[in-house]
Amino acid sequence: MSAIPTLLTRQLHYVCGKGGVGKSVVACALARALVRQGERVLLAQVSAPDSHGPLLEIGAVGPEVREAEPGLFVVDIDPHAAMKEYALMTLKFEALYRTVFENRLTKAFLRFVPSMNELTMQGKIWWHAVEHHFSRIVVDCPSTGHGIKLLRTAQVIADAAPVGPLADKTRKMAELVRDPTRTALHIVTLPEELPVNEAHDLVAEVKRTGVAPLGVAFVNQVLGSLFDDETRASLATVRAHAAGDAALLHLLEVAERRVDRERLERGQRARARDLGMPVIELPYLLQPRLARADVERLAGVVMEAP
Ligand SMILES: Nc1ncnc2c1ncn2[C@@H]1O[C@H](COP(=O)(O)OP(=O)(O)OP(=O)(O)O)[C@@H](O)[C@H]1O
Ligand SMILES: [Mg+2]
Repeated sequence: MSAIPTLLTRQLHYVCGKGGVGKSVVACALARALVRQGERVLLAQVSAPDSHGPLLEIGAVGPEVREAEPGLFVVDIDPHAAMKEYALMTLKFEALYRTVFENRLTKAFLRFVPSMNELTMQGKIWWHAVEHHFSRIVVDCPSTGHGIKLLRTAQVIADAAPVGPLADKTRKMAELVRDPTRTALHIVTLPEELPVNEAHDLVAEVKRTGVAPLGVAFVNQVLGSLFDDETRASLATVRAHAAGDAALLHLLEVAERRVDRERLERGQRARARDLGMPVIELPYLLQPRLARADVERLAGVVMEAP
């Protein structure tokens, strides 16, 4: 298992996981940690409602790469824009692009090629990685199928069409994504039973398909312990004396619920450590809506990881 600082020296970071577990928050925190280490970072979201803009307080993130602050570039990779750019890159000439891609029949056909969107987005990421000299690229993956589909596309297409205009580039893309010196697939989960089950499934799938080298398991929204053994024991003592005191009983109930929750959480945190990946636990931040200062705090946790 690589130490976390070594993993973070890789160029390409895919942040994967189920919907709502905190992929965008983790991607922003990771990007900020890397910028604070002096890297030139591209943070990419993939045709998502813009969550990076508000989290980092940098204004809207659009389809053009923009340096939002020194060292931090942001982009929203839109499949249609990316498809055109990718095709132009491959086919070289605008006229040829128009003939091939803006032909009504081709357009209809492309809609039925299920992987085309993923391929073009992957192509765009690859293009940034190779051509744009970003020392780090952080991709906030879509949650559909854990975001794995995006990563697998290049390989699937390279296998299916080993020759032809796309073959060379898709093969190089697939190689980059699989390269353990350049790419890391991070998994975000929560310290709860179902999300941890899903993280285990995802690890199994990544290993089975060999799609990309595994990186860090981020266990997000960890409550942590308010109660140690001693305070837990004193709760029982208090309960023995609380009979008839409604306010105290109410307070005890709240405390006992929290103790239960902490116990469940400890179990799931242990199961997350069994994923076989280095773990970074991120605290649950008690905010109605996370913003820049919260991202910075989480970035600090990432930077301190051993
Ligand atoms: N450590 C945390 N502490 C408190 N709230 C958090 C934390 N991490 C994430 N959240 C909140 O949880 C919600 C989901 O986070 P986020 O948008 O990053 O998830 P996501 O996995 O990107 O979701 P989606 O699959 O919809 O893209 C957000 O409201 C976010 O502010
Ligand atoms: Mg998101």
